[in-house]
Formats: sequence, C-alpha cells, structure tokens
Amino acid sequence: MKVLILPDEHSAMQRAADIVARTVRNKPDAVLGLATGGTMLPLYEALAQRHRDEGLSFAATTSFNLDEYIGLAPEHPCSYHSYMREAFFDRVDIDRTRTHLPKGDADDPQAASLEYEALIENAGGIDLQLLGIGQNGHIGFNEPTASLGSRTRIKTLTDSTRRANQRYFNSFEETPRYAITMGVATILASRKCLLLATGEAKADAVARMVEGPLSAACPASALQLHAKATIILDDAAAGQLTLTDYYENVHPQGRDSVFD
Ligand code: PGA
Repeated sequence: MKVLILPDEHSAMQRAADIVARTVRNKPDAVLGLATGGTMLPLYEALAQRHRDEGLSFAATTSFNLDEYIGLAPEHPCSYHSYMREAFFDRVDIDRTRTHLPKGDADDPQAASLEYEALIENAGGIDLQLLGIGQNGHIGFNEPTASLGSRTRIKTLTDSTRRANQRYFNSFEETPRYAITMGVATILASRKCLLLATGEAKADAVARMVEGPLSAACPASALQLHAKATIILDDAAAGQLTLTDYYENVHPQGRDSVFD
C-alpha cells in the first residue's frame, strides 16, 4: 500500500485529483470506478475545476459506480444516480451513455447485480477505482463480515451505516436498508485503486485498514491484497497510524517516491 499523508483536506483532494487526471490523460478511454459520499464531493469539485480551467476531458471514459440503494429510482433526490449527476456528470464532458450505476429500482436486484458485474467485465475491467471508507471499515457497501471473495450483489446495511447516511433522508426509518454494491473481489480486480479518507472520525478505520490484520471484520483491510492501492489521507485521518514516520519518509508530504 502506498500511504500518502497530506496536511489538510484540500491538499489531499488536489493530490487525488492529480492521480485521476494522470490516469485520464495517459488513457483517455480509461474505465473509472466511482464512489459517492461526503468525502468525494471536494474531489469531484477539483476534477470539474480542472475540466473547466485545464480542459481535462472525460469524454472517452467509461464509469461504474460502486453502489446504489435498493428501492430508489434514479430520479430520487437521495439516490446515488442523483448524487453523481449533481456532483460530477453534469459538470464535465463525460458521455452519459457510458456512465453506469447499479439499478437500485430493478424488479430483480439479484439479476441486476449479475448484469452489472458482467458489464464491468465486458468493458475490460476497471482501470482506477475510487473508494471512501466507512467508520466501520466498509468499502462500497461491503459491511463488516462481507466475504472478501464477494462480487456485485445485494447487501443489508448496518445500523451504523444507516445512521451515518440518515442526514440525507428525513428519518432513520426512511434511510434505505438494502443496496446493490460491487463486492470486495470486484474492487480487488481493479487495476489500481485510490482510497480517500479525511477527518478524525475515519482515523480508527484507517488504522485498521492499513495496519490491522487482514479481516472481513474490516473489509477495507482487503486492500492489503491489492498490488496497486494508494491511500490518501489528511493528517486527521492518519492520526491513529503507528508507522507514520515511515510513510512520511517514503512519500514526504504525500509526494511520489523516487521509484514511482
Ligand atoms: P463518507 O462515506 O465519505 O460520506 O464518509 C464514505 C463511505 O461510507 O464509504
């Protein structure tokens, strides 16, 4: 794992935007794995700004989002379809016909999950997968005890995840209980992945992911198996790591090492 520690959220997001931009410039038709959540909003803002100011183009990219709530139509204001339109798709030149999210409103969500997995494969697999991390160590909606060999499927959300997401809904009861999510093995199959975590609330989950045992109890720890996983943190999210001196030594101020 490459652990890059930046002094604050803004510099962490700029660093992440550098990696996304480099991926897209090197391979204009890259397949991007996209994520939602509060952490990602400033990253999408930074990418939209680079599109406006520097002509960074997503026109030839294909995208697959990690997850979507079951029972919410794409038009629902709290769906991840809506999130992606507002945060990113409407603000860059991505071809909407090549953007994909799981069909949370499918009559048969199980079949929709299998189709989604096949679509990713048919697109040639994911070049760069963006990830956030839940306070409970989830990636996508792979909650603690999710199989490390899992593929896209239906998951039941934990109460802690529903409480964290309740802020977008009117009440806990209204917060969806089920989602379609890429599995841990789907995420591990990406050629590169980039996990972003900011703020003190993520510090414990980050320490378990990076330095804890490989365990389904912390699904993000599965990234220890990924050959090209980059973790971008601000100081607060890195606060419970014990090998910080080493990470700083290898990647001073979050820069690439001489061997990158
Ligand atoms: P957040 O969500 O960015 O809103 O904290 C991250 C996640 O749950 O993966």
